[in-house]
Amino acid sequence: MSEEEKQHQRQAESAWQEDCSFMLSQRLRLETVQSLHATIAHEWSALQRTACQTAAARALWNHAIHDPMADVLAGESSLRILHEKMTKDKMNNAREVSGVILAVRTLWFDARIEAAISSFGKQEAQVVLLGAGMDARAYRLSCLKDCDVFEVDFPELLQIKARLIQEAMGSAEHQKRAMVAKSVTRVGADIKEDDWLDKLKTCGFAPKMSTVWVLEGILYYLHHHNAMQVLQTIAANCLLTHTVLLADFMNESSASLSNSTYHFYSDWPEQLLPALGFLNVKLSQIGDPDAHFGLLHDSQNLFNKLRSLPRSVQTNPEDGSPCCRLYLVEASGFPN
Ligand SMILES: C[S@@+](CC[C@H](N)C(=O)[O-])C[C@H]1O[C@@H](n2cnc3c(N)ncnc32)[C@H](O)[C@@H]1O
Repeated sequence: MSEEEKQHQRQAESAWQEDCSFMLSQRLRLETVQSLHATIAHEWSALQRTACQTAAARALWNHAIHDPMADVLAGESSLRILHEKMTKDKMNNAREVSGVILAVRTLWFDARIEAAISSFGKQEAQVVLLGAGMDARAYRLSCLKDCDVFEVDFPELLQIKARLIQEAMGSAEHQKRAMVAKSVTRVGADIKEDDWLDKLKTCGFAPKMSTVWVLEGILYYLHHHNAMQVLQTIAANCLLTHTVLLADFMNESSASLSNSTYHFYSDWPEQLLPALGFLNVKLSQIGDPDAHFGLLHDSQNLFNKLRSLPRSVQTNPEDGSPCCRLYLVEASGFPN
């Protein structure tokens, strides 16, 4: 490490210590919370721990996102890692500060969930979060007040999440009062298996009720055939009821950044989804007017550069870097 890098490291550490005093809530220091996060660190897979990393982004981008439980759900180590990156980015006047993609993505899903629910009119609606991780929308989005929310993820993850929420809230009574959604049901399931929809139904999912499917930060962790099966299962359910699908897709260049972590990708989700039976596909890129939220100030930022290139271009002609894109996609389905 060069002297300059060491200096930056020291500054980032001292910024963290200063911030800790006001940023890290007392709840994070609770013994049970610390011990639950120690279990996460020792027993969860890297894939499961991504849930804490996205929660950390929601906690640290709290000037844009209101998620009061995000810090407890993220845990100190995820917060610290992202905080250090953000501090370094700010000190280096980076064009994009770490976590901005996750912040924009969260806000885009929030906005599209709200629009989907209002498109159902007065009908009862349900929202299914596949790969829900540490998502706390059931506690923070007022548009969910008449909706049943289903959170699907690995059982061990959902158990610890429930305990962290319990710790954050204090009592079951408090928890009930803090919940905004009509109900939240946690469904422990592996969506690579064939039985996840049955498990969802057993937990109360009503196939004929208007449904928003939220696939945020999940498809690219699945192998191609598993991701396609999940999309096909949702498409089949569109034949029964008014459905809105919200999902983010990596393009091939993004998935190639780590072949061991990312698998499924699509360069053209607007062609893939209609072939499966979805309608009205709308695609946005980070930085588009509906995926900006005032968080991308530098006009020369990476996302604007990518948006100015045709989507078929794989390599940035300016510097030869791969065009890594994240597509935010909305589609719908209706019974015949
Ligand atoms: C990057 S996190 C995203 C979490 C959440 N959607 C968010 O945006 O904060 C990915 C989540 O998908 C879950 N996941 C990955 N593969 C899964 C599978 N096969 N079945 C169920 N959940 C899965 C992980 O456990 C993790 O919680």
